[in-house]
Amino acid sequence: MAAGINFNNVWAALGTPQNVIAVRQKTKYDSSDFHIGGSDAAGIVYAVGGQVKNVKVGDQVVVHAGVWDPDCPAVKAGEDPTIDPSFKIWGYDTGWGSFGQFAKAQAHQCMPKAAHLTWEQAAAPTLVGQTAYRMLKGWPPHTVRPNDVVLIWGAAGGLGCMAIQIVKAAGAIPVGVISDDYKAEFCIKLGAKGCINRKKFSHWGLLPHWKDTAAYNQWAAGARDFGKAIWDVLGERRSPRIVFEHPGEETIPTSIFACDNGGMVVICAGTTGFNAVVDLRYLWTRQKRFQGSHLSNDEQAYAFNQLVRDGTIDPCLAQTYTFDQIPLCHQLMHENRAPEGKMVALVGAPRAGMKALPL
Ligand SMILES: NC(=O)c1ccc[n+]([C@@H]2O[C@H](COP(=O)([O-])OP(=O)(O)OC[C@H]3O[C@@H](n4cnc5c(N)ncnc54)[C@H](OP(=O)(O)O)[C@@H]3O)[C@@H](O)[C@H]2O)c1
Repeated sequence: MAAGINFNNVWAALGTPQNVIAVRQKTKYDSSDFHIGGSDAAGIVYAVGGQVKNVKVGDQVVVHAGVWDPDCPAVKAGEDPTIDPSFKIWGYDTGWGSFGQFAKAQAHQCMPKAAHLTWEQAAAPTLVGQTAYRMLKGWPPHTVRPNDVVLIWGAAGGLGCMAIQIVKAAGAIPVGVISDDYKAEFCIKLGAKGCINRKKFSHWGLLPHWKDTAAYNQWAAGARDFGKAIWDVLGERRSPRIVFEHPGEETIPTSIFACDNGGMVVICAGTTGFNAVVDLRYLWTRQKRFQGSHLSNDEQAYAFNQLVRDGTIDPCLAQTYTFDQIPLCHQLMHENRAPEGKMVALVGAPRAGMKALPL
């Protein structure tokens, strides 16, 4: 009925860091010479396989994006499937995603659609929400606790708008980073204590070499100013216990610097580049953790979906587009010109605003 737009199909369209079709063919996962993207869906179950027990034809569902081989030894042994070699992101690593009249998914990906949401609202939050949920709740002891300060990069973007709400719901204090002051209102409405405009700073990018004292000191002054901006938002000298990262190369040195002693920088992407230069002195002497995180397992996706169903999480639908506008949505994302929140395209739903099966 509707498909959420995600950044992963910007990567798929660019063919970087990998050509998704070629990888599937090379690994003999799928010989198709096309890619049907789309990693968020709200729709109706049309047919089920013989062993499917959790959903039936006609059920109204949303689909989470975690795909894995249930027969893999590690998965059978109860290990987290996201670290299994068979783990894939639906509609990116796999084809047959939600940008088509029919989509093909594993049964465990299907979750009940929140009845109070329209098709397009329901298609908005799952991929970014399940990812943010794992980042914030999946890495004990660094799970978000009441009164923790959490710094959220790209706070008005897809991941960011879900992170703000999950942090707020945990009784903690989200501080957003944005690139234009007009985005602050959106973030504060969702629960952010305040926002920092990253365009007011210029120390981004790879960390200068520590032997280049002048360049390093200039960087450190920028990082310190950024840290002070966090205190200004809070009205007190506290540093984030968790830094919610995804820009990567441009921001990692600052994230590690700004993170509190004993805190965690948790990262699920490297949108601006993949070389994370870390001043190890801050990492070891202040005992900070730098943690990778990727999508989520079933339990985390289901827990996030429950927050959507009970109304704790707003799906943050920014705008609804037509099927033909799916490339436009990805171009807007690529150019960082997307509206705050999530973009969704109608696929099977004949019009916006419908909450259930069309008559
Ligand atoms: N591993 C996973 O499971 C997973 C899951 C979801 C997403 N991701 C990845 O995470 C990344 C973000 O996804 P998203 O859905 O949140 O995308 P999005 O909706 O486009 O939001 C990303 C935000 O990042 C900020 N940003 C852009 N350039 C930046 C820079 N140079 N420095 C700091 N911030 C910058 C932008 O906000 P401002 O311009 O306002 O700062 C933008 O709103 C993508 O690379 C995506 O593929 C990974």
